[in-house]
Amino acid sequence: MIALGADHGGYAIKEAVKAYLQREGIPYKDFGTNSEESVDYAIYAARVAHSIVSGECEKGILCCGTGIGISMAANKVKGIRAAVCTNEFCAEMTRRHNDANVLAMGGRVIDEAMAVKLADIFLHTPFDGGRHARRVGQITALENGEDLK
Ligand code: RB5
Repeated sequence: MIALGADHGGYAIKEAVKAYLQREGIPYKDFGTNSEESVDYAIYAARVAHSIVSGECEKGILCCGTGIGISMAANKVKGIRAAVCTNEFCAEMTRRHNDANVLAMGGRVIDEAMAVKLADIFLHTPFDGGRHARRVGQITALENGEDLK
């Protein structure tokens, strides 16, 4: 299950990603927002992030104006690795190297076609593991208040 969330700035690209998921038959849960009326992005980041750490959803896609605020908020939730991506290379590498579980995008930065392309790459690229697993483990250690030697 893929969790979707957006504020008003990301609403249009979130809808485009939702239509892509429907076409592909990929299960999703849409946590809103459902219009271009102004809302606060942290609320939608929290809904998506909590659905992932609870195990209800496997990955998430969050959209705001830039992708930045909504990713910052999501990354405050333990267990979330949200990456703002604006191009295909970053969408691929954040899965392969960072095991990102949330893709964040900006509706005022990229168009709907690019949002769909990045979502497709993000959802279909596996984690490389190996040395990258050690590095992701270090991110988790920092999150748990540990120091790195
Ligand atoms: C909302 O105007 C805008 O600040 C928000 O969508 C996002 O870009 C924040 O990072």
